[in-house]
Amino acid sequence: MSASTSANSSFHIAVLPGDGIGHEVTAPALDVLRRIEQTTPGLGFRFSQAPAGAEEYKATGKSMSEQTIKLCGAADAIFLGACGLPSVRYPDNTEIMPQVELRFIYDLYAGVRPARLIPGVPSPIVGADRHGIDFVLVRESTEGLFASMGKGVTTHDEARETLVVTRKTTERLFDFCLRLAQRRKARGKPGRLTLVDKANVFKAFNWQRDIFNERKRAFAEVQTDMLYVDACAAMMVKKPWDFDVMVMENMFGDILSDLAAGLIGGLGIAPSADIGDTHAVFQPCHGTAPDIMGKAQANPTAMILSAAMMLDWLADKHDHQPAADAALRIEQAVDKAYASGLKPMEYGGNDGTAAISKAVMTALG
Ligand SMILES: NC(=O)c1ccc[n+]([C@@H]2O[C@H](COP(=O)([O-])OP(=O)(O)OC[C@H]3O[C@@H](n4cnc5c(N)ncnc54)[C@H](O)[C@@H]3O)[C@@H](O)[C@H]2O)c1
Repeated sequence: MSASTSANSSFHIAVLPGDGIGHEVTAPALDVLRRIEQTTPGLGFRFSQAPAGAEEYKATGKSMSEQTIKLCGAADAIFLGACGLPSVRYPDNTEIMPQVELRFIYDLYAGVRPARLIPGVPSPIVGADRHGIDFVLVRESTEGLFASMGKGVTTHDEARETLVVTRKTTERLFDFCLRLAQRRKARGKPGRLTLVDKANVFKAFNWQRDIFNERKRAFAEVQTDMLYVDACAAMMVKKPWDFDVMVMENMFGDILSDLAAGLIGGLGIAPSADIGDTHAVFQPCHGTAPDIMGKAQANPTAMILSAAMMLDWLADKHDHQPAADAALRIEQAVDKAYASGLKPMEYGGNDGTAAISKAVMTALG
């Protein structure tokens, strides 16, 4: 905890609701955290809200102010709704993406995307209701093909973008994933880590495989394997229940993490975290959903589950058992709400933001 936090024994959370449905899903998730605070001895929060995103850019010419960046740096965790609107763009026609800037500013190299099928939520995969789906996809978030962002070269005859992976980030990323697999094993999950790459074609991935083999020696209890990304895509659709923790390059993860969200019922229930050595951002996988904003249809589940991930990360970082218990309580409340028959509008039901929030709050007790 930061110095100010330890003084009043509560976690300081920077809250960036962002744009569009970001606001609509942040409010119910904060209600959940306030209820958790009221009912969990030894756990408290101090929320500082700040603007970021397309609306902020329209108002000030910046995606977020220096003050907001400083707030994020000083807080114990960053809780972000979703940012950007397709209609608001920089002069070079790219979108306003403070969520991506924060990854680079605070070196958030591990993009953690859990894919857990909530019982009662329909999956498009045959057999998923019997087998369950419960894996975590970790996407490297600061380099890979994205290292070329803004640096690509185009001429009339060709275009080039360059993939970069560094030893420093590769080692930290593999250690993070091995620890995650270890933690999952301690919680009764398989505790297996799969490295996903394209080492049959590119030297860079063979180089990473050598680092993977070096780092895993320190984690004897974690089972490991390696899989080519194309085969992995097919396996994720055929037998997603066979995966536990997966780690991959940025661009591969960009694509397969949306596939993972599709497996568990959609973007409205897929949470995520971008984690570094000192800071972390917690946010739903979805964007600002301009097609439904202001219609009270947004599913807040992904944001609520991102709050649970935030508590679990704070618990691990600060050895704080009440936060770990609270994370589990939120997950269980979400499961209970869906078991009671919730049907979000996202997949053809009648339940909008208010009904889903109410069901989770009721289940929390
Ligand atoms: N992390 C982020 O902040 C983030 C991520 C992705 C996209 N974006 C931005 O969001 C804007 C819209 O992007 P997009 O349309 O490609 O993706 P999107 O995730 O906003 O929407 C895709 C589809 O999923 C639906 N959807 C998304 N979240 C939902 C929820 N919680 N409940 C119900 N339905 C939901 C939307 O209605 C839409 O049909 C763009 O400006 C994009 O740049 C931001």
